Amino acid sequence: MGERKKIVTIPGDGIGPEIVREARKVLDKVCEKYGHTFHYEDILMGGCSIDAYGVPLTEEALATAKAADAVLLGAVGGIVGRDSWYELPPNLRPEAGLLAIRKGLGLFANLRPAKLYSELKEACPLREASADAGFDLVVVRELTGGLYFGDRKTEEVDGVLTATDTLVYNENEIRRIAVKAFETARKRRKKVTSVDKANVLDSSRLWRKVTAEVAKDYPDVELSDMLVDNCAMQLVKDPSQFDVILTENMFGDILSDEASMITGSIGMLPSASLAEGSFGLYEPSHGAAPDIAGKNLANPLATILSAAMLLRYSFDMDAEADAVEAAVAQVLKEGYRTGDIFSEGCTKVSCSEMGDLVCERI
Ligand code: IPM
Ligand code: MG
Repeated sequence: MGERKKIVTIPGDGIGPEIVREARKVLDKVCEKYGHTFHYEDILMGGCSIDAYGVPLTEEALATAKAADAVLLGAVGGIVGRDSWYELPPNLRPEAGLLAIRKGLGLFANLRPAKLYSELKEACPLREASADAGFDLVVVRELTGGLYFGDRKTEEVDGVLTATDTLVYNENEIRRIAVKAFETARKRRKKVTSVDKANVLDSSRLWRKVTAEVAKDYPDVELSDMLVDNCAMQLVKDPSQFDVILTENMFGDILSDEASMITGSIGMLPSASLAEGSFGLYEPSHGAAPDIAGKNLANPLATILSAAMLLRYSFDMDAEADAVEAAVAQVLKEGYRTGDIFSEGCTKVSCSEMGDLVCERI
């Protein structure tokens, strides 16, 4: 018996609309094959919402997203210096929409897998030995606390311009993201590396304490702590040592970019931002790539793989998610590539052709 679900889609800016179109195509194919019915509703977020309403996310759009079973996002943002969006105050720029939807939907857990596809090994910028060893890790990033959401201000103190950003975590915020990391590790290789700056920051010392407490409930999962500067080094030295990297918002922002870069194919990486329960927002790890927007050149695979994560985490449809991931792997194996991951001897395809190829293999 098929299921009925409501998905809110946020095409956004740049290549967003084209990649979301391909992911929807794939979801429709899943519906056809498995007898489900997905209803879609588009909302505006980012630059396109600023153009239409003067703000990057309206209250109505947020309410629409809240009422859905899951949200699929393309990308938001433009180019500083080119797009007039960046002449607005920071809280009205495209990226502010992203922060508002994360907070508004309670998306505290950001899962960013970074794995090296053996077919795309040549793109890995690390030494050959590291590429041959391969890696498959996931950054579990806290997404609604820390520096991103603490009080900030810029003021004049004794005639000197002074800016303040505050980094706050309470034990409950740390506990719930730690639980997510341990649950994630349980379904993988059962290893959590908790990353912090406990040699300097109080928030990190609390992070370590709470994480160690949570670990007691997961005796089957191995926990180790690592300082963030060391983690940045270890990622380029030997990424195969990592399974789940658990970390706070700002460190997770930086380390997840590093982790995606070493795969050499950021156009392939999906992500999930999860709330309590099964609700989540799914988006590619890459940005809006305004330079290639509207040219049917973008790689839709990260968005298609994000749709697979949506099926798995929000709809509990493991077989359907497996089918999408297998179809993507098959297309790569057959040598089809968009421009960003193209190499000699492969067949170059457009964004929409890539979507069709995946659909045909589901
Ligand atoms: C990300 C992005 C955002 C972040 C920006 C656009 C606000 O870099 O999703 O990693 O820092 O969280
Ligand atoms: Mg980032």
